[in-house]
Amino acid sequence: MELSYRPRRLRRTPALRAMVREHQLSPADFIYPLFVHEGASNEPIAAMPGCQRWSLEGLVEEVGRAWELGIRCVVLFPKVADGLKSEDGAECFNEHGLIPRAIRRLKASHSAMAIMTDVALDPYSCDGHDGIVSSEGVVLNDETVAILCRQAVVQARAGADLIGPSDMMDGRVGAIREALDEEGFEHVGIISYTAKYSSAYYGPFREALDSAPRASGGKPIPGDKSTYQMDPSNSREALLEAQLDESEGADILMVKPGLAYLDIIHRLRQQSEQPIAAYNVSGEYAMVKAAAERGWIDEKAVVLETLLCFKRAGADLILSYHACDAAQWLREG
Ligand code: PBG
Repeated sequence: MELSYRPRRLRRTPALRAMVREHQLSPADFIYPLFVHEGASNEPIAAMPGCQRWSLEGLVEEVGRAWELGIRCVVLFPKVADGLKSEDGAECFNEHGLIPRAIRRLKASHSAMAIMTDVALDPYSCDGHDGIVSSEGVVLNDETVAILCRQAVVQARAGADLIGPSDMMDGRVGAIREALDEEGFEHVGIISYTAKYSSAYYGPFREALDSAPRASGGKPIPGDKSTYQMDPSNSREALLEAQLDESEGADILMVKPGLAYLDIIHRLRQQSEQPIAAYNVSGEYAMVKAAAERGWIDEKAVVLETLLCFKRAGADLILSYHACDAAQWLREG
């Protein structure tokens, strides 16, 4: 054939392919999510093989390992004892609570590691919702935001670098920004769960924290989070959320879940100049692990491909439970 252009020329050798590669993965792209509990030993999480509920000591060790592998940010999630859960989730702003203690402990041993937190009531709520549920079964917005501000300030005081509101209440980014600034934490950033969808992919995470919505008393409890998390049918709405978060002072915008929402990452990338993060969530992780355990897929190849595709879609940062494995694989080449 007489062809003037043969795209295969640039795919012929590893060197040529490396030269024209448009996107690369680096361990510094990863944010590593970690679960922590009060127990003295680490506890495996059934639906997330390879993940643990870490004891404080185990957490310190795991963060050291992550740093060693080139990871520069971790995000912490607490498994809160049932006895500490309440309707208003007040344990979330206890200065001596599990998360503030974990942050202080990590800052003492690994001061250079960036620490991100999660701001929402669900691990602390006996109703399992991200906000306060009224006696009529409505998740209250403004009342919840007031508590989230207190939670964010306590996390900042303990040493958090990035506050991550995951609750999807309206106006929370602006309110948290104001609360942080008032307390002298203008240097602490906000990584907002900007487009967080009401998704079935969070199942294993809710098992890890025992945080799924549930009836605890007489009041009606919504069975899902669809009155505050976004409808998976919508994409324009994500752009609106992004505009609001930017105008309220978010430093980084996040899309969650990741894999089924690459189009949303791409659209946000086109609309915004701010860093974009993608959350490769627990259900996505569990599916890969389950298939790999059965020998149906090549785990390393699938994970590295998946993470790379988040970057191609437009993400700068990727929250992933695979972070340490991926960093190790990248090092091995
Ligand atoms: C809490 C929160 C959730 C996740 C992160 N923060 C669960 C939820 O909103 O129900 C999910 C993370 C994952 O599935 O990996 N608001």
